[in-house]
This record gives sequence, C-alpha cells and structure tokens, in this order.
Amino acid sequence: MQAFTSAVELGPYQHYMQKEIFEQPRAIADTLEGVSGIMPELFGDGAHKVFKSVDSILILACGTSYYSGLTAKYWLESIAKIPVNVEIASEYRYRDSVPNPNSLVVTISQSGETADTLAALKHARALGMPHTLTICNVATSAMVRESQLAYITRAGVEVGVASTKAFTTQLAALFLLTLALAQTRGLLSDEQEAEHLKAMRHLPAALQSVLALEPNIAAWAEAFARKENALFLGRGLHYPIALEGALKLKEITYIHAEAYAAGELKHGPLALVTEEMPVVTVAPNDALIEKLKSNMQEVRARGGQLYVFADAGSSIASSEGVHVIRLPEHYGLLSPILHVVPLQLLAYHTALARGTDVDKPRNLAKSVTVE
Ligand code: M6R
Repeated sequence: MQAFTSAVELGPYQHYMQKEIFEQPRAIADTLEGVSGIMPELFGDGAHKVFKSVDSILILACGTSYYSGLTAKYWLESIAKIPVNVEIASEYRYRDSVPNPNSLVVTISQSGETADTLAALKHARALGMPHTLTICNVATSAMVRESQLAYITRAGVEVGVASTKAFTTQLAALFLLTLALAQTRGLLSDEQEAEHLKAMRHLPAALQSVLALEPNIAAWAEAFARKENALFLGRGLHYPIALEGALKLKEITYIHAEAYAAGELKHGPLALVTEEMPVVTVAPNDALIEKLKSNMQEVRARGGQLYVFADAGSSIASSEGVHVIRLPEHYGLLSPILHVVPLQLLAYHTALARGTDVDKPRNLAKSVTVE
C-alpha cells in the first residue's frame, strides 16, 4: 500500500528529488502568489517600522539555506545598500561576536526546526538583537514562532534530503526582501519596482525552459559518474551557486566536490587540476564573464575538462575539453535562481548513474533537529 501511494505521488518521476526539481516553476509561482507590489508588510505587521530602524543585516543558516543567504548578500548590498553578514548558524552561537541592536537578524530554513539555526536565533536575541525575520517553508515551525517577522515560502513538502525547490523559493523570498528594504530606504523607484516584479513573474516560464535542458545534462552524467573529484567555479552572485552545486554533487553522489570563487584558483586549487579533473563552471553573461574566461583558460592550460553552464549572452563555444550547455536567456540579477537548476540536475543524473540512494543519501537526515 505504501509503495502504491509513493508511486502515485511520484507520478512520472523516478525519485522525489527529480519531482521536486521539476516542481520549481510551480513552487516559485506559489511563493510569489499574492505579491501585487513591493511593501514591507509582505513580511508581517510592523515590518515597515522594523525596516526603517535597522542599519545592517545578519543572516544565520545552515547548508543549502546558508548558500541562499550568501547569494542574498550580493543583492542586499548592491540594491538596498545595506551591509550584510552571513554566518553559519553552528559557528555563530559558539563565538564571541559584537552584537548590533540595530541589525535585522534573518534566519533561513526549509524546515524551520534546524537545531543550530534555532539556537543561533535565540543567541542573537539574548545578545540584544530584538529584530528578527525568518524565511521558512513551514508556517507552523519553531523558527516562525520564534521570529518577529516571517516570509513563508510555498515550495510545498520537500521529501528528498537534497534541498532543491526550497532553495530557489528562498532566493525568491530574499529577492523580495531586498526590494522591500530598498524601497524603505528610498532606493527603489516605481519603475524599478515594476521592472523587478516583471522579471520575477517571468521566472516560472524561464525555469521551464531551463528544465527542458535535462537530456543534455543527463548526457554529461556518465562521464561524471566515473570521477571521484570535481571542482565548481563561479564568480560574484554565482559563487554561492557554485558552492550549492558542489554540495548537491557530494551529498547524493559521494563524489568529492569543492567550489571556489574562480579568482581563487591560482591561490591553491589550480594544483589539483589535471585531465582527470572535471571543472564545472557557472558562466552567465554578467560583469565578470571576461575574468571568468581567463580563469577557464588557466584550467584548460593544465588539461582540466571544463563543463560550462553558459547563457544566451555568454560567448563561450564548445571546443576540445570545453563542454558547453547554454541556458536560453540571460536573466540578470535573478540568474542564480535559474543557474542552480542545471547543477541540481547534474547531481541527480550522476547519482542515478552511480546507483546511489538519491532521496536518502547515507548518513544524512532531512531535518537536523539535534546538534
Ligand atoms: O531545514 P534547513 O533549511 O534549516 O536545513 C539546513 C540544511 O540542513 C539543509 O539545507 C541541508 O544542507 C540540505 N540537505 C542540503 O541539500
């Protein structure tokens, strides 16, 4: 009976992770449902007063949720011009830090029950930081109950241990937070608000066209499945996406993967690069593309095999040792939400080829409610 229920729930998909990757257009649409304009109250009553009074942001989270926080730092500092610190929750609570009572403490969590994040939130409050906001997928969770303000993502239940739709919906919520703070600080004109909202509403369609690349990505998985190491590179906004891609790969395929901001290559990791090393590169056509291309040349010069996720605007062609999959559009500031999807699919198909337990990888739990 159990097996029958699962089969029905899975529909045409082989695993929950695959199903959840493909649910992302719907999850983003649901997360944005009801957002007709940008206003602090999207985050709860009293948000306007809180947003007016804060002068910085402290983001606390673990794992994939921590990487969504790292991505948001780029948005918040560039659009809302507010200083942001992003901390691993399990580290924050065990170190001496300098509390700023005017900081907005933002926790990010799929489950809302992660012990380290919850404890970090309580620690921040105990240190005298009263302004708290959570981005969370479970409305009834402890994290939501403990926070002054909240934005509930509407990813729906995520069964696979590897977080996918939770991550992209967190990013959507964090982009809304960026716009709301920018507006409160007088940094968002009506035209800019309309432009950003238009781009956000286009995300479900844009995600569909990225998901259509699945067969091309699956074709790379055979080669990946034979490797035991991989490097991931990104720059700027896409450095956290490279980190997330490496986490996905190691979590479900057990391949050792590391991510670097590509400019760091020559400061150490380049020593690892041989013809045996696949180097996954997140390469949208942003302001850093030329710098990234010269980092890619450093890899090729050592025989490294490049697997590049470019987009419509990045002029990178396939050649010997350079494999390119091109996302159909250039998505500007929202590009991380699109560029993480092929990395999720690459991890998924590589895990399939290696025969690992995709939805329940060894040694891991979906929700880490103990320290
Ligand atoms: O429920 P949370 O978002 O607080 O969980 C945090 C991490 O445990 C979680 O993101 C973990 O890293 C995922 N399994 C990664 O895919």
